[in-house]
Amino acid sequence: MNKTLPKAISLTLIAVCSLGWEAARGQVHGPLLFPKDDYTVETMRVRTSAGERDVTYHSYMHIPYVANPVDKDYQSLNVSVPIQVDGVTIDATKAPVLFNITVGGYMSVNNATGPMGAPPPPGAAGPGRSEEPGGPRTLRPGGNSSVSSKQDLALAAGYVVVTPGARGRDNLANDGTYYGKAPAAIVDLKAAVRYIRSNDSVMPGNANWIVSTGCSAGGALSALLGASGNSPLYDEYLEEIGAADVDDHIFASACFSPITDLEHSDMSYEWMYGTTPTRSGVVDQELSRQLRQSYGEYQESLGLEGKNGFGPLTADNYDEYLLLYYLIPSANEYLNDLTDEERKEYLATNRWITWSGNSATFAFGDYVAHVGRMKSLPAFDDFDMRQPEPILFGNRTTDARHFTNFSLRQASGNPNAEIDDELRTAVNMMNAMYFLGQNDSDVAGYWWLRNGTRDNHNSQTVMVNLATTLENRNKEVNAWVFWDGGHCADYDPEGLIAWIGNITGFPRQPNVGNN
Ligand code: DHB
Repeated sequence: MNKTLPKAISLTLIAVCSLGWEAARGQVHGPLLFPKDDYTVETMRVRTSAGERDVTYHSYMHIPYVANPVDKDYQSLNVSVPIQVDGVTIDATKAPVLFNITVGGYMSVNNATGPMGAPPPPGAAGPGRSEEPGGPRTLRPGGNSSVSSKQDLALAAGYVVVTPGARGRDNLANDGTYYGKAPAAIVDLKAAVRYIRSNDSVMPGNANWIVSTGCSAGGALSALLGASGNSPLYDEYLEEIGAADVDDHIFASACFSPITDLEHSDMSYEWMYGTTPTRSGVVDQELSRQLRQSYGEYQESLGLEGKNGFGPLTADNYDEYLLLYYLIPSANEYLNDLTDEERKEYLATNRWITWSGNSATFAFGDYVAHVGRMKSLPAFDDFDMRQPEPILFGNRTTDARHFTNFSLRQASGNPNAEIDDELRTAVNMMNAMYFLGQNDSDVAGYWWLRNGTRDNHNSQTVMVNLATTLENRNKEVNAWVFWDGGHCADYDPEGLIAWIGNITGFPRQPNVGNN
């Protein structure tokens, strides 16, 4: 995309000399200059499947990434640059950049204190999110050892890790106004990407190899970052906060349990869980039926083609598609990896699975019953507006708003009510699927998509629609579901590290991500 370079560059002569011509050429505003000498030296022990690695890295903390921050506690980022692994000096000047989005529940991430208010350990790359329930678990169910988080593994592999803060739906100013409602989070993340790109000549890491990652709301934001590169839709927001005036597309996106396509998620949730009881019984079956019917129309409108000549994906054959390409392969991998004794035990407690010739067979309905329904109806744009999503779509003066016509009509009693244009635009600006349907953004070429088969926060169709849309657009997609994995499951963090090495061709440090 054609962008004009910023004009007001107030670098002093000394700064120009010390930075060299590349930075002086005009990519960097004074306040947006990466403070390359302002770091502390930290060490960390990283657990890999091939043993422990001692990593020494430079830690840059709390760097504002926009010139006119609304709140710099949020609009700042941390950078970790590996310097030595097991005493051997490494060069991360042109390494891939893992852009680690720690947003959860569409809440803000305070870069001064860390997500959820927890202070980050000194020099740490920033906490990741762990699968629920049961805390961090990086190996498959039943595994008894674990490797470090993907961001720590990335450092041990020799990659740069950037952990941005971002505004979120909870940000409330002293005057009682909200300043982090949609699309603030994605605007901030784009601004952080622009910061990295505008500082490419002075900041370690290669801005052409930015790989975003996150889970759940963070996974959705990672997908959105990958789908909406350089879209002009955000320009005025980015200008307002003084983001660097450079491109914001990224190279690759890794999305775990992405809660994207929000305006269709109530529909797909009913498609998957409509007749499955919650703890308090079955949901209103008439409303569920209406949402399920809308899902069928929506799915058809996407015009997606399943893999290997499967044909059009519809509400009628999606169960078959999920079984064929996602659920059965995942179950097979899991069950084949167990010992005979473990498998016998698993199958004895999961009699809905038939095991024959090293292969599992089961009915989609039995699988859904095994997972169980978590959310009530509507699952996202709920009538009481207590879910994260209506609160995400509040505005400066309103905490929460309905963002689907279905819920607005039910709640208002007006069968013709429509959400207004300003809100519709905000909804689009938060949806990766919107951009993939538009063809006017620069979409990342590489995608790593993961979900847990027992994640009942969302319909399994959401990630698979994202995967299939990207496949239909000839992007390189590596998609998988972790058997019995919950929300944000990541049983293969080394796989991601290896994949980043493969798609960039960067010679990563050995023994991190060898699988
Ligand atoms: C998250 C989980 C949800 O169920 C949801 O609706 C939105 C976000 C999360 O964990 O980030």
